Amino acid sequence: MTTTERLVDVGASDDVPERGRLVVEIGGPTGPVTVGVFRFGGRLYAWENRCAHQGGPACQGRIVSRVRERLDDERRSLGLRFDEDVLHMVCPWHGFEYDVTTGRHPGRPDLALRSFPVAEDGGRIRVAV
Ligand code: FES
Repeated sequence: MTTTERLVDVGASDDVPERGRLVVEIGGPTGPVTVGVFRFGGRLYAWENRCAHQGGPACQGRIVSRVRERLDDERRSLGLRFDEDVLHMVCPWHGFEYDVTTGRHPGRPDLALRSFPVAEDGGRIRVAV
C-alpha cells in the first residue's frame, strides 16, 4: 500500500464465491471509483470497472471460462472447448474479454484493466484505493 491508499471494507467473504464477483463503488482520493472483486482459484482480484476499449463496465458482463479451439496437425479445427483453468470477464458493451487473474485482454495484452490491492481477513474483504 502507498501512503495515499486506504483500505475500504467492501463486503463479506461470502459475497464473492469461487468464480463469482462483487461490484462496488468506493470513494477514492480523486473521487468515486467502481471496482469489481473476483474470486478464482481461491484468490481475490480487484479491477476497475472501466474497459480499456471505450470505458464500458467490463466487470459487469458475463463470467466464462476461456474458449480454446483445438487444431489437428494440419491446423484444421477439431472444435471449441472451454478451458476451465482460465476465467474471463466479458465487457457487455462490445465483448472484449479480460483474464480475471491478470486483467489483460488475451489477444491484446496491451489492453488491461487498472488493478487494486485486495485483502481478506476475518471474513471481510478490503480493497485499497
Ligand atoms: S467498452 Fe468494453 S468492449 Fe468496448
